[in-house]
Amino acid sequence: GPDHPYVVVLFGATGDLAQRKLLPGLLKLDCSGLIPGLQVVACSLDKHDDDSFRSFARKACEEYGSLEVTDEVWDDFASRIRYVSQDSGSHYLALAVSAAESELGSEPRRLHYLSVPPKAALAVVATLDEAGLVPRSRIIMEKPFGTDLRSAIALNATLHQTFDEQQIFRIDHFLGKEPAQNILAFRFANGLFEPIWNRNFIDHVQIDVPETLGIGTRIGFYEATGAYRDMVVTHLFQILAFMAMEPPTALEPDSISDEKYKVFRSMTPIDPANVVRGQYSGYREEDGAAADSETETFIALKAEIDNWRWAGVPFFLRTGKQLAEGQRIISIAFQEPPKSMFPAGSGVGAQGPDHLTFDLADASKMSLSFYGKRPGPGMKLDKLSLQFAMQDTTYAGDVLEAYERLILDAMRGDRTLFTSAEGIERLWEISEPLLDNPPPVRSYPPGSWGPNAIHQLVAPNAWRLPF
Ligand code: BG6
Repeated sequence: GPDHPYVVVLFGATGDLAQRKLLPGLLKLDCSGLIPGLQVVACSLDKHDDDSFRSFARKACEEYGSLEVTDEVWDDFASRIRYVSQDSGSHYLALAVSAAESELGSEPRRLHYLSVPPKAALAVVATLDEAGLVPRSRIIMEKPFGTDLRSAIALNATLHQTFDEQQIFRIDHFLGKEPAQNILAFRFANGLFEPIWNRNFIDHVQIDVPETLGIGTRIGFYEATGAYRDMVVTHLFQILAFMAMEPPTALEPDSISDEKYKVFRSMTPIDPANVVRGQYSGYREEDGAAADSETETFIALKAEIDNWRWAGVPFFLRTGKQLAEGQRIISIAFQEPPKSMFPAGSGVGAQGPDHLTFDLADASKMSLSFYGKRPGPGMKLDKLSLQFAMQDTTYAGDVLEAYERLILDAMRGDRTLFTSAEGIERLWEISEPLLDNPPPVRSYPPGSWGPNAIHQLVAPNAWRLPF
């Protein structure tokens, strides 16, 4: 764990992310004993006092957390939470932080968590500066980091007037998921797959993250964001980089960041002709959505990495809300063998190519699907699989939830699983053709797999999902 006690200053403390992940995560970390001392200063635009916010936070932890919230556990944690209204100014914020620090003894550090929309981030940074809270601090910035290339560059430049790059942690929680880190272990600790991890053996890759969730209470954020900015330019491209990067010289932050950046530089600008945007029918009637909203709740696209390893291998990405199933998979399709010796009708190839699949769900899974013989007379083939499922192992209890892991890493100063300014700027740069000329949104029925055009996008291949 970190060496110093921490005051966590949480902005956006009543938001969706804070409720689902950050408050339960802080409670869990607090109980884990991994942090030498913790105080929380919560800020938001809502009206609360310490007591009402504490009840709000308890409800969130009970509803979304994995710990049983007994009175004993809660009272201890709650006594270390303070609430400051975000519009009460820097003075009150400074007072609350200093009161929290005085409870912590020697050399407490500050972790500012900005769980606020991109356009609110700079105002928070200015408040932190005015309140004198920049020294001894680190700052976690939530995605999306900016909304396009210009705003990302401006955001970085302005941030750097106040914080050193070393203090800034741009979070992408997909990188904190155990199975995402397992991609690195899998790729770089084993000799079996290393030689075939390239265009000579891999036909195409799919990164597919359909969600059954709707927009819920986040419509204000979502209307201005959409699926591309919310999920693709952030999580899906970061995962793509783990999949595609060259071996780093060492498993340390700068080397990993360099290799990821090289992948982003090799990606060709996203061609709007290779993009399907969708919106579930009924979205425009949601409270808070514009009646003529063009915000996409679904996106599928083809990305290309024009380098020595991946030239000609399409990466198909898909994500959206209100789809048929919630899944988070990366699926690698291998090329067909040079010659099929099986009789027509044997079933070979009928269920798509052989695949390696990583499942990014919390209960991580990996599987290798291949054709094998169905028992009995003749030669009939079926798709079979070899599987690893974390939940069947003795590891199951050790999993740190992504946000917990990343908050802990930020406290320890470990940037390995955070994203870099240059990487993010490059991703906005390749997004420009799409953001400038987005294809019109196509409607899709809630509970489906998206608009029909998704099939043409991958033809002659097929989507691996549904299994
Ligand atoms: C968030 C997006 O970053 O990731 C949400 O803003 C999305 O729209 C979520 O639902 C998915 O995360 P997870 O960890 O549930 O797969």
